[in-house]
This record gives sequence, structure tokens and C-alpha cells, in this order.
Amino acid sequence: MKQEDLRFYGEFAPKLEEIEQLLMREIQAMLDSISTDPETTLAEHIKCRVKSADSLCEKLRRFELEETAACAIKNLSDIVGVRVITHFVGDIYTVLELIEKNDHWKVVTVKDYIANAKPNGYRSLHVLLNLPFGVGGIDTINVEIQLRTIAMDCWASLEHQLKYKKHIKNTALIVDELKRCADEMASTDLSMQTIRDLIQKG
Ligand code: GTP
Ligand code: MG
Repeated sequence: MKQEDLRFYGEFAPKLEEIEQLLMREIQAMLDSISTDPETTLAEHIKCRVKSADSLCEKLRRFELEETAACAIKNLSDIVGVRVITHFVGDIYTVLELIEKNDHWKVVTVKDYIANAKPNGYRSLHVLLNLPFGVGGIDTINVEIQLRTIAMDCWASLEHQLKYKKHIKNTALIVDELKRCADEMASTDLSMQTIRDLIQKG
């Protein structure tokens, strides 16, 4: 964590970092448990972050909540976030099953924005977990894991770059074009999955 974030999170900072590490460790272990062959790993990569104080305060303001770490931990679900990037769509559901079996946490909700893409074309599987917290009178914390293929992550990252903090006019053309790209990438994801299934059937 950066100095300013450490200052903002205060007494909660060490616990948040501990939770981040626990998530990374558990997810890595569950991925390793299923693939013995390093050539066929489930995840292309995993990343984890504690939300910056800046971006957290912006969100708290938007929700008209008090701008404190305690209030954020009690009310928001993405202070600690993990992203697991898989090669194929099917791998996402394999990872989901592993997450559901792990008893370090409780799965609160699963939002399948792959089966039901957002209207703008965004695709990912969002899993909300509840973990023990136990600092400053707060018993538990919710964290979010996002599961995506490389293609879904590619689109989300490019879309974010295009839109982030820019007051672009959302013209129908831009909205349509971004959606078209998302749909094309989803179609390629399905083709790649089919090719893999064909190869595995031998
Ligand atoms: P809601 O209950 O609809 O809010 O669902 P959610 O909380 O699962 O999703 P939300 O829209 O709050 O987004 C959570 C995170 O998903 C964001 O911080 C982004 O990382 C990612 N995300 C969601 N929608 C988009 C999108 O349209 N584009 C990109 N690039 N990322 C998105
Ligand atoms: Mg949300």
C-alpha cells in the first residue's frame, strides 16, 4: 500500500493486507491443486489490489456515505479485489467451483455477466465473498473476485482506458462499436473453447 493509503486505512491496513495475501495464497493453491502440468494452467494470471484511498473516497461520496475506512469496510465490497484471468470460458466455471468449495470464506453472491452480459457488452463473473475481519469491532468483510478470460479482460481494460475520467459524449456510434467489439471477442472465446474441446476429445 502507498503511504497515503496506509494513512487512510489506519488500524485496518495490516488486516486488509493480510486478507489480500490470504486470497492470493488460497487461489494459487486451488489452481495448483487442479493442474499438475505447468503448460495447462487454469489461470493466465491473478492480480490483487486494495482500493486506493482516492478512489474509495470518490465511491463513498457517490453513495453519500461517511468518508472513513470503517464505513467503507462495513458498506462496500470491493476494498479488496482479486482478478483471475483464465485462458478459456470453461475454466472460469472450474475456478468458481473451487472457490465455492473453499472454507476460508462464504460465497455471498455470484453475478454471471457472461451468461448475462451488461448492456454495454461487459463480460465477467463476479463472486462476492465474506471473510472474518475482527478489527475495530467489525466482524466480517466482503471482497470481490472477478473471473474473466484474456479476451474479456482485454475488452474491459481497453474500454476502461477509453472512458476513464474522460467526459466523452456517449454517442450511439461509440456505444454500438464498443458493444460490437465485446460481442466479437465473446464469439472468438466460444470458438477457442470449441477448438479446445475438439483437441481434448482427440
Ligand atoms: P451491480 O450490482 O450491478 O453493481 O454489479 P457489480 O457490483 O457486480 O458490478 P459493478 O457494476 O459494481 O462493477 C464492479 C466492477 O466490475 C467494477 O469496479 C469494474 O472493475 C468491473 N466492471 C463492471 N462493469 C464494467 C464495465 O462496463 N466496464 C469495465 N471496464 N469494467 C466494469
Ligand atoms: Mg456494484
